Amino acid sequence: MNENARVEHMPDRIERGRNVREGYQRGWGLQFDKLADRIVKEPLFGQAFQLAQGRTAVSPYNLINLYLIVLHFLGRLESHDIIEFGSYRGGSAVFMAWCLKTLYPGAKIYALDTFEGMPETEDIDWHKPGDFGGADIDEICDFADRAGLDNLVFVKGRFQDTLPILLKSVRPFGLAHIDCDIYSAVKYCQDAMWDRMCKGGYLVYDDALVSSCFGATQAVEELIMERRVHCEQIWPHAVFRVGLQS
Ligand SMILES: C[S@@+](CC[C@H](N)C(=O)[O-])C[C@H]1O[C@@H](n2cnc3c(N)ncnc32)[C@H](O)[C@@H]1O
Repeated sequence: MNENARVEHMPDRIERGRNVREGYQRGWGLQFDKLADRIVKEPLFGQAFQLAQGRTAVSPYNLINLYLIVLHFLGRLESHDIIEFGSYRGGSAVFMAWCLKTLYPGAKIYALDTFEGMPETEDIDWHKPGDFGGADIDEICDFADRAGLDNLVFVKGRFQDTLPILLKSVRPFGLAHIDCDIYSAVKYCQDAMWDRMCKGGYLVYDDALVSSCFGATQAVEELIMERRVHCEQIWPHAVFRVGLQS
């Protein structure tokens, strides 16, 4: 059996709250097959990537995996709305907004950040207050407007202050992109969003496996222990599904 056939023979069912085959399709395809080479040639990916270039700290592989989820998997869910925790100069947000606008007109993406850098951090965190301080919210909004991204809403402030207000007026989400690096923020977002995702919704952690984001790693360890969940994908970033546990 060749290696691609091995992926196709993986069980295509929900078990332990995740679909292992879909995790292999994306993760193995990107890490060991030529999936990335094919994706970078797709016009939609190229357009979105060009918008994000020069304004994102997210790696190309992580952007490709977000693209795969949005293109092939998000459409099956009840909600196509996306929320991002940690937007910095708006790179990954405009990337996803472009894909979303093309694929799911009517869906919205909310991008949350202080846009003034990291708030207070803890001793486990590598980052210090003020890191990622080089964002200019007016410039980011102008850039998104000029790109025609009327589906993208920027929300400025600490998540702990802005999210409770935002959650009063939004639908459940299909994807949460958690890219905020530090323990308190990642922990807060994952707990606040758990009951606000639609069934099967994707929690995507940009940095829980990154050596300078051990606070994010600890938050994800706690997610696994407290909610007894298994991940669907571990490379290039950690992906969990919500609401599929039996
Ligand atoms: C790695 S950056 C995000 C990168 C971004 N996704 C990109 O495309 O480049 C992490 C961001 O998380 C934000 N952040 C961390 N904790 C936060 C909190 N509690 N409230 C709001 N923003 C927070 C920081 O301000 C920082 O801009």
